[in-house]
Amino acid sequence: MTFQLIDLPYDDTALEPAVSAKTLSFHYGKHHQAYIDKTNSAIEGTDHADASLEAVVSAARGSNQGLFNNAAQSWNHAFYWHSMAGEETAPSDELKAKIESAFGSVDALKDKLKERGAGHFASGWVWLAEKNGELTIEETHDGDTIADQDGVNPLLVVDLWEHAYYLDHQNKRPAYLDAVVGSKLNWAFASENLARGEAWTYPK
Ligand code: FE2
Repeated sequence: MTFQLIDLPYDDTALEPAVSAKTLSFHYGKHHQAYIDKTNSAIEGTDHADASLEAVVSAARGSNQGLFNNAAQSWNHAFYWHSMAGEETAPSDELKAKIESAFGSVDALKDKLKERGAGHFASGWVWLAEKNGELTIEETHDGDTIADQDGVNPLLVVDLWEHAYYLDHQNKRPAYLDAVVGSKLNWAFASENLARGEAWTYPK
């Protein structure tokens, strides 16, 4: 059984102008597809062939860097597509209360996500997560993920690789972060993740 590229949860123009259809055609259609394809070819005929993507990520961590990178990137990108929405939704009461407790307000959290995302050196990801019951901002480098970390529940993620923004914002990562974090985050998805209390799983 192989992993399939998930469907985008919106039309390819839904995120414009923050993320254009052209960016999605490459980022989703080429990059994400390639991560999925490489994961599938690496696990074909192995003990991982019928495992969940989360189990593949966890098993490959520290032992098979090539497979880990592709499997984690497959997971991260699927989670990233869901982390955005054409129209900004409101956080649940539960999520809003936790945001206010940890950051003061939703706007203050957005500022912090933009700051951490802009300050992150080179490629990676900036996450909003629940860790030991508290909300926290996490960063991972390159293809690394928090999907398989015990006690950590990812709520939202923003891709910080240049391929996420170069066609629309060139080298201006802060402009991309302003546009995405400012009005395209899927707070309904974050709320569902918080309410579930355990990490989202890649559809199989
Ligand atoms: Fe990416």
